[in-house]
Amino acid sequence: MRYITIALAKGRLAELTIDLLEQAGLDVSELRVKSRKLIFTDEANKFKFILVKASDVPTYVEYGAADIGVVGRDTLLEEGRNLYELIDLGFGACRMCVAGPKELAGKLDAINNMRVASKYVNIAKHYYALEKKQSVEIIKLNGSVELAPLVGLSEVIVDIVESGKTLKENGLAVLEEICDLSARFVVNRVSMKVEKERIMGLADKLRALVAN
Ligand code: PRP
Repeated sequence: MRYITIALAKGRLAELTIDLLEQAGLDVSELRVKSRKLIFTDEANKFKFILVKASDVPTYVEYGAADIGVVGRDTLLEEGRNLYELIDLGFGACRMCVAGPKELAGKLDAINNMRVASKYVNIAKHYYALEKKQSVEIIKLNGSVELAPLVGLSEVIVDIVESGKTLKENGLAVLEEICDLSARFVVNRVSMKVEKERIMGLADKLRALVAN
């Protein structure tokens, strides 16, 4: 029997994913040991787990280097890879929002050539071009995006809001909501055919667990 490989997004989703996989009966003990290893094995069930940067999970899965991935919907929308999205796992729930100084509430449509800073340039482009039909300048950042409106780099940001704490502590507010986000179970399209039984077996268990 060949191994089935699951790509886990390093960071905040990894812990929750590991807990869920354990509840589904997989042996995640190797993943619990603090180390710098990136690849782990469940010999009994013939599963491998790889730890990758969240934005790379869709790439590993699309190319088949991983059969399965667990990653946020934000990453899936941003990366736009050709994958099979099987389950909304529910955890990691947050929102993609336009945020900025609260004085701009209700005034965004009137700003000409508004500058929008974001890590999620594709999501931002799609939102402004197709939903808002507004011409804006998108500025790519790699983190600490909330800083941009505070120092005059942009008028607003497009970013994830979870608790809202980061916005609040920086004197910013949600101005528009773009979409809801949460962790998704995604599958390589070929793996879905050749390993259907084992993948659906795991998927059924996960579905039952997240439904409760
Ligand atoms: C994310 C996001 C916000 C924050 C939102 O950043 O970009 O900054 O979390 O969470 P909150 O609403 O609960 O405050 P992340 O921690 O991934 O770090 P980054 O700034 O390096 O992107």
